[in-house]
Amino acid sequence: MEILRKLEHFREEESKLKWEGTFAEYLDILRERKEVAQTAHSRVYEMIKSHGVTQENGYTKFLFFENQIYGLEDTIERLVNEYFHPAAKRLDVRKRILLLMGPVSGGKSTIVTLLKRGLEQYSKTEEGAVYAIKGCPMHEDPLHLIPEYLRDDFYEEFGIRIEGSLSPLNTMRLEKEYDGRIEDVLIERIFFSEDKRVGIGTFTPSDPKSQDIADLTGSIDFSTIAEYGSESDPRAYRFDGELNKANRGMMEFQEMLKLDEKFLWHLLSLTQEGNFKAGRFALISADELIVAHTNETEYRAFISNKKNEALHSRIIVMPIPYNLKVSQEEKIYEKMIRESDMAHVHIAPHALRVAAIFSVLTRLKISKKQGIDIVKKMRLYDGENVEGFNSADLEELKTEFPNEGMDGIDPRYVINRISSAIIRKEVDAINALDVLRSLKEGLDQHASISKEDKEEYLNYISIARKEFDEIAKKEVQKAFVYSYEESARTLMDNYLDNVEAFCNKHKLKDPLTGEEMNPDEKLMRSIEEQIGISENAKRAFREEILIRISAYARKGKRFDYKSHERLREAIQKKLFADLKDVVKITTSSTMPDETHLKKINEVVARLIDEYGYNSISANELLRYVGSLLNR
Ligand SMILES: Nc1ncnc2c1ncn2[C@@H]1O[C@H](COP(=O)(O)OP(=O)(O)OP(=O)(O)O)[C@@H](O)[C@H]1O
Ligand SMILES: [Mg+2]
Repeated sequence: MEILRKLEHFREEESKLKWEGTFAEYLDILRERKEVAQTAHSRVYEMIKSHGVTQENGYTKFLFFENQIYGLEDTIERLVNEYFHPAAKRLDVRKRILLLMGPVSGGKSTIVTLLKRGLEQYSKTEEGAVYAIKGCPMHEDPLHLIPEYLRDDFYEEFGIRIEGSLSPLNTMRLEKEYDGRIEDVLIERIFFSEDKRVGIGTFTPSDPKSQDIADLTGSIDFSTIAEYGSESDPRAYRFDGELNKANRGMMEFQEMLKLDEKFLWHLLSLTQEGNFKAGRFALISADELIVAHTNETEYRAFISNKKNEALHSRIIVMPIPYNLKVSQEEKIYEKMIRESDMAHVHIAPHALRVAAIFSVLTRLKISKKQGIDIVKKMRLYDGENVEGFNSADLEELKTEFPNEGMDGIDPRYVINRISSAIIRKEVDAINALDVLRSLKEGLDQHASISKEDKEEYLNYISIARKEFDEIAKKEVQKAFVYSYEESARTLMDNYLDNVEAFCNKHKLKDPLTGEEMNPDEKLMRSIEEQIGISENAKRAFREEILIRISAYARKGKRFDYKSHERLREAIQKKLFADLKDVVKITTSSTMPDETHLKKINEVVARLIDEYGYNSISANELLRYVGSLLNR
């Protein structure tokens, strides 16, 4: 029942937003809320701002893109500050087509889709409300009804500039349906919706031969010509092209440069003059933000063609490079996996990270700066501290190659390789090594990778692998020495008891049986050997420790294993050595004994509970680290 109730609630909310009234009543709304009459460009900008803006690390962050677009903060900032903001202020950039140019699957479509969804939502809010002439297929701006000769007066009264003239259809309707009485024309609130084709249009180029301009500008409705008598009667025309439908909002041109020239010219006039030609009518005014996208190769081919010069100068190109931050790249993969049919698969910790390391490395250019290798550069870009470099160095690195991020491995490739690794593995769990292996194998099938690139990429895979080895060892170590402090203390107490007995020449008591025993020479030596204390030097060392203890006792201080630098080192090394033995056993053929087994199980449990593994990946990790230590 829950879902039905929600549906009903949703319908109620929607109907609350509806508004319909006469033009005269609409003017009352305008008097109160001027922003209702804003241009499409301004609406997009306001929409973005309405989600919040913060300042972070020296750049402006637009929260609208947060958790959607990762790692492109400076690109987004530039996009808003150099296009949306000035366009909203009616500066000249709004008369240009916004062309997002970047490598494949670098997020261009995602940005556009976000804007579309954002606009749809925004049109349902108070600040984002949009009104239109009722019954108009192009949701024409009501203010177009104000005749040219009254527009200055209107500006004086309302402070709003009107652009564009009343469309042929509404000119006719005004005469025929309203007898010329503008104040009576019905106005309604509209809600942007791509599905319903209101205020949002999309155009995808198809086969150039079959592509029809009618898709953009609408077409004659032959069935009604008989009724209206002529092809030039606007009522015999269907204003249902994408450009018509996108009026007041935004229009997306996918792969714009694949379009036939005649299409592009329509766009030119639309952006430049704010109008376009449809059928046999006078120009039709439209107010829409035009955003297109393309890849670099196509863009280069386009500008190298002299014929395109006029178009070129009417386009604002915004480069959309790949993200260059490893931690952000990981988030991109997480998002893509969440949205895919792999969402149920267990992905071991660090599996996405190693893939991200690999992809980011393929995108980075090798700096000529002294002392900075590609791995250090990668870390700096990701905001890590790298010894010997500071934020000024980072800025310098970023400007060294203006084209950085425009090529390399794309996120979709990575996701495809992860998915094929999953298929191959049969269990629903994959780890970092599976991912690296799959990435490597895929390089052969990747169509656009040259031989030199491939060499380089293989090198990056082995760098990623090395990074993983370090991470894996540390992770296992962490899980093992979880009770490190406690183990260290126990080991030291044990050692000190024995040392005391040894120096004072008495016996120890077995805590269980109460039997007397000699000091455990083997245990003491196993610790002392860690720091290279020879058989001859052992007595001196042990006595020195005892002296230190009594000195502490006299001052009333507690002696613990950290109180003696060398002893501390010995204890730590001994713990790690024991740990290695346990880890190694997980991969050797010898059966682990009971205490080892218990320890291994504890570590597996820890990896699962605290570090996000499952039993498959935890065991895989242990085996792998064991094999690393056995090398
Ligand atoms: N910086 C990024 N932030 C978030 N997601 C990203 C980013 N870059 C790529 N993606 C993800 O990668 C996938 C492909 O992105 P998208 O389709 O937007 O790329 P595109 O630039 O339009 O590519 P194409 O040129 O192939 O059309 C999407 O799932 C998108 O979410
Ligand atoms: Mg795309």
